[in-house]
Amino acid sequence: MTSAERQRRCTLTRQPDGSYRLAIEQAPVPTPASGEVLVRVRAASLNRRDVYVLKGQYPMPPREALVPLSDGAGEVVSPGAGVTRFKTGDRVAAAFFQRWLSGRPDAQAPSSALGGQIDGMLSEYVCLSEEGLVKVPEGYSYEEAATLPCAAVTAWNGLFTRGRMQPGDNVLLLGTGGVSIFGLQLAAAAGAHPIVTSSNDEKLARVRKLGASATINYARTPEWSGEVRAATGGMGVHHVLEVGGVGTLPQSLASLAPGGHIALIGGLSGFGGDIPAAALLHSNITASGIYVGSRESFEALNAFIGQHALRPVIDRAYPLEDALDAYRRMESGQHLGKIVITL
Ligand SMILES: NC(=O)c1ccc[n+]([C@@H]2O[C@H](COP(=O)([O-])OP(=O)(O)OC[C@H]3O[C@@H](n4cnc5c(N)ncnc54)[C@H](OP(=O)(O)O)[C@@H]3O)[C@@H](O)[C@H]2O)c1
Repeated sequence: MTSAERQRRCTLTRQPDGSYRLAIEQAPVPTPASGEVLVRVRAASLNRRDVYVLKGQYPMPPREALVPLSDGAGEVVSPGAGVTRFKTGDRVAAAFFQRWLSGRPDAQAPSSALGGQIDGMLSEYVCLSEEGLVKVPEGYSYEEAATLPCAAVTAWNGLFTRGRMQPGDNVLLLGTGGVSIFGLQLAAAAGAHPIVTSSNDEKLARVRKLGASATINYARTPEWSGEVRAATGGMGVHHVLEVGGVGTLPQSLASLAPGGHIALIGGLSGFGGDIPAAALLHSNITASGIYVGSRESFEALNAFIGQHALRPVIDRAYPLEDALDAYRRMESGQHLGKIVITL
């Protein structure tokens, strides 16, 4: 591979209305610096954040010509000088935060988010620090591996690292998007009881096949915490992956069992909402802010995936030329699980 070779990648250009235009461009294949690895990216996946970024609604606006998407997987084609963690041919996925390796994040971690502050994965070739990569789970396709870095790591941290989920726990997942479907699969594999809400009965039928022990149509039942209580014999849930935000937080809090844990993750109905401190105190509730997680968490997730033979639910895969259609599908909310782009 020489630097004279060209590749295709997508970049974002700011529009007068504040949104961004996604375009495919030709660019040189980068050369790995010392400690970096050149990766031929084979698949990337979308998260809701990528739609916010494209629409100009992300709180940290991307710089001009940013390559979008945090999530991607591919093969190592050329390790740079001094690289010891990977060799040519290794199958790798990128960690969401390139500089949060383990333990607590430091203040610099957020600025190392791929597809946010730094170029992301919607590019045939990327150069990344060897520290910012993990091995793909055994037997996974690149499409499957590309679904993991953001949504699956977030669900993992919400349920295990911060929530300390146990077999038999009741777990509430909101909607059927990327984070919630991984949450369902992780909870079912751990012997917990996942309860899933959706606005769509066909999707609810599908999540029952994926292991949901109870389902609720939140469009038909806007005050759904009563149904959550009924489904848990009055006890409530020990965990909520709160992806809905301001519109769902009150119902999520009302669904919690004493001693429960609410992982504050998303804002599908708008970010924000009030945490009632006195009520939390009386019920011994824990609330955690979750922002994806470290490389160490990604590796722990991958070990669990291997143990339990979990396979991600891929809604659709689009070729790079149709990347915008992938964004449109995510924005429509018609998907279940993850949307992939192949390169
Ligand atoms: N903090 C973090 O680290 C982190 C990481 C990943 C994602 N997030 C955030 O978490 C949220 C989910 O992300 P995602 O990528 O999983 O999204 P996604 O795949 O786009 O999820 C979309 C689905 O969510 C459901 N939904 C939409 N509005 C809802 C509402 N008001 N109540 C309940 N469900 C609703 C719908 O499911 P149905 O069609 O079944 O109704 C919709 O299809 C986003 O706000 C995202 O920014 C945060």
